[in-house]
Amino acid sequence: MAMNYEFGRHIAAEQQAGNIQGVNALRRRQRSFNTAIRQGTFRELPLESPERRELVIRIGTAIEKEVESLQEASLLGLPLYHKAIVDLDHILLTDIISNDEAVDIILRSETTGVLAKSQQLYGQYETFLEESFVNVILHSGDIDLLDPNNITQNYLMRYRNLTANEVALADIKPEDRVLFIGSGPLPISAIEIARQTGCQIDCVEHFADKADTSRAVIDHLGMSGQVHVYTAEGQEFPVSNYSVILVGVLAQPKQEIINHIEQNTQEGVRVLARTTEGIREFIYPEAEFTTSRFIPRDINHAVKDQALSTILLKDRLIDASKLIPKQLSAPLRIIDDGEAYVSNITDPQNHWLYYAFEGFNALSKQGKKIGHFVSIATGPGVDAIGAMEILHPERITVTDLVPTAIDQARENISRYQELGERTPVTYVVGNLCEPLGNDTADVIYANLPNIPIPTELLDQLLEGITAASYFDPETLQGVPEDLGKYLLSLQYAFLQQAKSHLTPDGQVLLNLGARMPITAINDLFDKAGYQQPEVLSFGFKLQTEPFDTIPNYAAHETSEVQFAYYPYRQAKEILTGKSITNFSELTTLLEQLKLSATDAFERLKQGEQLGHLVTLLSAKPK
Ligand SMILES: C[S@@+](CC[C@H](N)C(=O)[O-])C[C@H]1O[C@@H](n2cnc3c(N)ncnc32)[C@H](O)[C@@H]1O
Repeated sequence: MAMNYEFGRHIAAEQQAGNIQGVNALRRRQRSFNTAIRQGTFRELPLESPERRELVIRIGTAIEKEVESLQEASLLGLPLYHKAIVDLDHILLTDIISNDEAVDIILRSETTGVLAKSQQLYGQYETFLEESFVNVILHSGDIDLLDPNNITQNYLMRYRNLTANEVALADIKPEDRVLFIGSGPLPISAIEIARQTGCQIDCVEHFADKADTSRAVIDHLGMSGQVHVYTAEGQEFPVSNYSVILVGVLAQPKQEIINHIEQNTQEGVRVLARTTEGIREFIYPEAEFTTSRFIPRDINHAVKDQALSTILLKDRLIDASKLIPKQLSAPLRIIDDGEAYVSNITDPQNHWLYYAFEGFNALSKQGKKIGHFVSIATGPGVDAIGAMEILHPERITVTDLVPTAIDQARENISRYQELGERTPVTYVVGNLCEPLGNDTADVIYANLPNIPIPTELLDQLLEGITAASYFDPETLQGVPEDLGKYLLSLQYAFLQQAKSHLTPDGQVLLNLGARMPITAINDLFDKAGYQQPEVLSFGFKLQTEPFDTIPNYAAHETSEVQFAYYPYRQAKEILTGKSITNFSELTTLLEQLKLSATDAFERLKQGEQLGHLVTLLSAKPK
């Protein structure tokens, strides 16, 4: 095994140097490795198998022995300390056992104190390493941070990769103001983030000597215009001006720091909290904190030789007032957990809800009194809030197939109602109009997905994947073939069902991403037994989450069936300053730019933004 070879080489070197203690320490470590790490066979064993359980126990024992050896090696100078760390890394950074399997090992090591010991030895080693590296930087003329002959190359590469992942996770841009809390003597993460993005970054370090060292390094690298180091406590430092805050894994007291950030930052701040997972807890402690303002929106899990994972925290509630083109009677703050169809609120005209509400405005001008308003597939329920504000119905019912969507709708609507309109709302879960029972309504609004989800993924949908539609084969019996081809099956099934739930003068409102030809849309209403639909609103918007949508439309294209996309920027240029009075005028204006979904996907891959038409249609049964 490669590992034995390495041991052999190191033992020989220690023998030659006459270091008997070193030789013995290495031999002890070699023995524990041999008993525990049979990596090659380990991974193939089924999870939960007795063999695997036994090996997990052995790995636990090996780690404990390794930590003991590490303690000995830590007293024998940096080269041996380094080797012992590398050996322990061989177990901890191999992804050999799952995080679940690591739990027992960690619990046991916690009680014996081995876990804390290991973290302490790793921390101390990192400090040594950083200090020695600082010396190299400060005493050499022109230092390449990644000199391949330098033993720290591996360490620096890890930070380069880690920060690259973090830059992507929080989407850090040159104009961001970034704060790094707990930067240590060598603020390598700050240097890397500054280099990778060109942004300004400030560091907070509570030990004055470490902060001084950092400043010297940054000066020496000629980066003092971009990276600043403050000697301060993270839980006290003014944080209100930062758009991104990175909380180092060793930054303490963690909970106080998070509380401070919660209370003093602006809406929209992105917080990156470093932590460890599973067996990597032997390297750094897991970040433990609670938060009420933020939710974990994404995580970068450490794999391979990465020690650190990073959690992206973002506001759980966002201000969605701009979506409703009207002065609101109460603040509209809604849950944004990344699953609830609320993307792109910064730019409301790129959100379909904006067009829904413009359509509601047009309807309200018609002056019809609405008794009962229903929103089918309400998602986070914002459409119902807009209906209260604009249409003032006597009561509202909201439905969704996904129970968690209804939970969110209830929370969003209730929060808004504490100060705003108090229209009575009924919440029901189920497929299309089925949960309405025998109830009827004056207006039934629906915004349904177009792209089918395979039946085997239905469970995932119910757990909250909301980007695709639910295809219950029974609901869809009798959908005309042509409509299916244009991905209008769910819309057809909805229209069919809605007919028996409309009051005599009732109407449906259908919110459509109009990527299909107008003829197909007219066909949809006709075949479902409705009169020609009326266009209540229309517009052109950016395709959000393009990689989740465009390839799916492309996959449904054939020589006869094509969808319509437009290059976003060019289309916007054509439309600027024009007042367009009807939907067909808009399509005519954009005609020359039209792309099939297949072509749009090619452009997307080249980094182009794509847009599509959107409309709110109203129709009554024939
Ligand atoms: C695009 S969101 C609509 C959100 C909201 N109504 C609006 O207009 O902003 C689509 C919603 O449809 C729901 N959905 C998908 N298939 C459904 C079905 N067969 N019956 C009811 N709801 C469904 C999803 O759970 C999701 O919340």
